[in-house]
Amino acid sequence: MPRIAFAANPGEVGILTTSFVPPYPPRPAEPLRPIAALRMARRNFLAVFDEKCFEYQFFSARILNRQLFVCNSPETVAQTFIALHDSFERKTPQMRHALTPLLGDGLFVSDGETWKQRRRIVAPIVHASRLSLFAPIMVEAAAETAERWAKLPPSAPIDALREMATLTAEIICRAVFGPRLGSEHANTIVASFSEYQRLVGQLDLAYLLGLPDWVPRFHAPSIRRAARQIHRVLDDIIHETTANSLAWTWYLLSQAPEVEARLHAELLQVLGARLPTLADVPQLVYTRAVFDEAIRLYPPVPVLGRQAMHGETIRERPIPVGSLLLVVPWLLHRHRLLWERPDHFVPDRFLPENAGARERYSYVPFSVGPRVCAGQAFGQAEAILCIATLAQSARLQLAAGAVVEPVCRLTLRPGDALPMTVHRRD
Ligand code: HEM
Repeated sequence: MPRIAFAANPGEVGILTTSFVPPYPPRPAEPLRPIAALRMARRNFLAVFDEKCFEYQFFSARILNRQLFVCNSPETVAQTFIALHDSFERKTPQMRHALTPLLGDGLFVSDGETWKQRRRIVAPIVHASRLSLFAPIMVEAAAETAERWAKLPPSAPIDALREMATLTAEIICRAVFGPRLGSEHANTIVASFSEYQRLVGQLDLAYLLGLPDWVPRFHAPSIRRAARQIHRVLDDIIHETTANSLAWTWYLLSQAPEVEARLHAELLQVLGARLPTLADVPQLVYTRAVFDEAIRLYPPVPVLGRQAMHGETIRERPIPVGSLLLVVPWLLHRHRLLWERPDHFVPDRFLPENAGARERYSYVPFSVGPRVCAGQAFGQAEAILCIATLAQSARLQLAAGAVVEPVCRLTLRPGDALPMTVHRRD
């Protein structure tokens, strides 16, 4: 496999001067023994991968009675998630265990015909073609956060993770339900819901949200419970991804002043003092590159799992029925054969002039194939518009003494909180 070479001009883009290596969990020199690996996985799943895992292209392990294969090259990712897509299902026992109580048998954890049906309903709703409806909502919500920050005293402490979770929750709720709402505004939810249902015609919203059957539908008396449930579903699964990635972006910017300065310069050049619009997104190339690099280093969904329904062969190795197949963006995005300086924070690698150097399927933060993230365009536009809006008026610095450590449970987060301080930009 070819290594990526940069077409960048070092003098101009400063690619060789970015020396910041953001934190990652310790990597054992040798594979951990099964019991130690299981114990470690419970604490931080990312810490089970030893040094060699960042070089292997396809490897296997046995955990208890289950055979596990890690597809760790663009070719094996494409085979598993695209070519042999129909032979592997999403609903691995792990996924079922973790997600079913939250999502029931919704789009995220369904397979086969049920998934196809639900995907056909859900995908158009958050499709790129509807971004012109959503972008003003994204900017408005981000601008409100910026205004709130501007009223804080100098160097005010915030939890950037929580701030981003609140912001992205607000955006998806306004995008889905229309007007502003909070969990206490159950009536608003219901009213907006019917409006929404009218808009999308035949859509079964219970399917869209993956609500379990026991959740009361909207004509049922227990509206508040349903509203809370919706909020929880939206918050926990869809928000967490964008919220985590934004939190990581603020952290990375705070540690790399030269990257932050270039981002500010781009905002000034493209936007001046006005707020961004959807039309500005294609011009904000460096802002996008910073975000793309943030989710390369810290993919919000760092492990993707499938279960083999039919016996298959990958790289001449038989894959028995019932085996677990993993694509681990955490490994693939830091693979030594695919990336130059894989652990460094180098947004320039995502500038358009360097795109040709990257191998297809070496970068999969939104997954690939038929089950690719349905909200990819939404999430990307949201991230760029939020970063641009907030960075126009504020800088975030890591709070003194704060220790940032990537922790993977269901998603990859910078710990349980990200303590930062807010500083006004003139
Ligand atoms: C940075 C933000 C985001 C990232 C990195 C991300 C990533 C992912 C990943 C990795 C998957 C799993 C694909 C697989 O198992 O192969 C997924 C699925 C999904 N995502 Fe996202 N996501 C993000 C934001 C969003 C947003 C904002 C929405 C909705 C507005 C969304 C809606 C969905 C849906 C509906 C699925 C299930 C797709 C299916 O099973 O067919 N995502 N996402």
